[in-house]
Amino acid sequence: DRTFDLVIAANRLPVDRETHDDGSVTWRRSPGGLVTAMESVMRGREGAWIGWSGNPGDAPEPFHQDDMYLHPVPLTEREVGDYYEGFSNGSLWPLYHDVIVPATFKRRWRAAYETVNRRFAEAAATITATGGTVWVQDYQLQEMPAMLRELRPDVRIGWFNHIPFPPVELFMQLPRREDLLLGLLGADFLGFQRKPDADNFLRACRQLLDVSVEGDEVRLPDGRIARAAAVPISIDTSALAELATTPQVQERAAEIRRQLGDPEHLLLGVDRLDYTKGIRHRLKAMGELYAEGALDPRTVKLIQVATPSRERLAAYQQIRGEVERTVGQINGDYSPIGATAVTYLHRSFPREEMAAMFVAADVMLVTPLRDGMNLVAKEYVACHGDDGAMVLSEFTGAALELEQAHLCNPHDIARLKDTIIRAIESPIADRERRMRTMRRQVMTNDVQRWAELFLAALAAAPERPAQ
Ligand code: G6P
Repeated sequence: DRTFDLVIAANRLPVDRETHDDGSVTWRRSPGGLVTAMESVMRGREGAWIGWSGNPGDAPEPFHQDDMYLHPVPLTEREVGDYYEGFSNGSLWPLYHDVIVPATFKRRWRAAYETVNRRFAEAAATITATGGTVWVQDYQLQEMPAMLRELRPDVRIGWFNHIPFPPVELFMQLPRREDLLLGLLGADFLGFQRKPDADNFLRACRQLLDVSVEGDEVRLPDGRIARAAAVPISIDTSALAELATTPQVQERAAEIRRQLGDPEHLLLGVDRLDYTKGIRHRLKAMGELYAEGALDPRTVKLIQVATPSRERLAAYQQIRGEVERTVGQINGDYSPIGATAVTYLHRSFPREEMAAMFVAADVMLVTPLRDGMNLVAKEYVACHGDDGAMVLSEFTGAALELEQAHLCNPHDIARLKDTIIRAIESPIADRERRMRTMRRQVMTNDVQRWAELFLAALAAAPERPAQ
């Protein structure tokens, strides 16, 4: 059986399996920032990727795709309900995002989370080469590092959190919270999006465990040390920038503008349809600006892409209802005939079409209430020319790196409206200065550099305390 020097473990494989009515099978790229980033890291590295195929009860054999060895971990229908939709996305996701919606706890969910984390640990233990590296991803797999260490003490284990890590006052609510921390501390190195996230983790360890924390190191009772630090994730900037300059994408961008009636200002929002993304707040601000006549619905248009996500969960059905009602109200109240003010797209698009939208948009609206990083902000910067502008929520990881965006507090609708207007009206010299600085940032700190920094930190992490 084959083993690998580098193994990625993530809840999802980078592709979802789709079985069609005629029995044929196709694979479709999975949604979200994690896959966007990790896919380009793994290209050309000959590593393996462990993850769920996206379908309950499905147990496909391992297979190759794009130079990668994909090793599916099966989940039963019940585990999808309890581990994925339950503990991961009903307990952890809302809690780690400032409880924008209430977090729910069920003992059955918590138990399934442990069972599935053990299954991932066993799969990694089987396919990792002696002395190899396992890089565990995100909040769905926080107990896996310690489980894997027990099975394979020879392996280097890293963990990266793609989402925020909450303040200890919130983290404390979790059932068997100590086991989650101890699970994470099975890793040699723990990476976070921002320093405040790493600090929250270290504070939780100090307060809830019997360990000593010095600087960014946690010393366990057995003498082992785990390090925690910020390593902000990014995108494959040059590949995306190159795609954006192709004649096809440029022509499609011009066509999008023509289709919208050549607006004076084209605004764009691109998100998974998630309550963390602040889509409702953004629409509220836009609706009021149209209502007050501050924006003219004949010449200022908004495209809102809302990629379907976690559709069986009530909180996601609710936000979808609210967003769609608001879009309907805005268009009903203000759209001229034949040219709606808000173009709402509830589906996902190929990379080329996304790049064309980024090229076409004069102003990018990124207004999450909480977001670990937000790669869409970086994608806009990579694609759009010097004449762009971006409204960016302070509650994203990206805000710490893209300081030249028009930063905003999306909860403060009055200020959000002012910020949107300021971005729309900003003079060209100001736009160019901001965009160039942001582009330099994203070009230098791309996803390749992120992976190098992470893997170097992991390789350098101390196994034992210096005597
Ligand atoms: C975020 C998470 C990822 C997740 C993605 C899509 O980016 O950090 O772990 O894969 O959302 O969500 P889904 O539940 O569809 O995998």
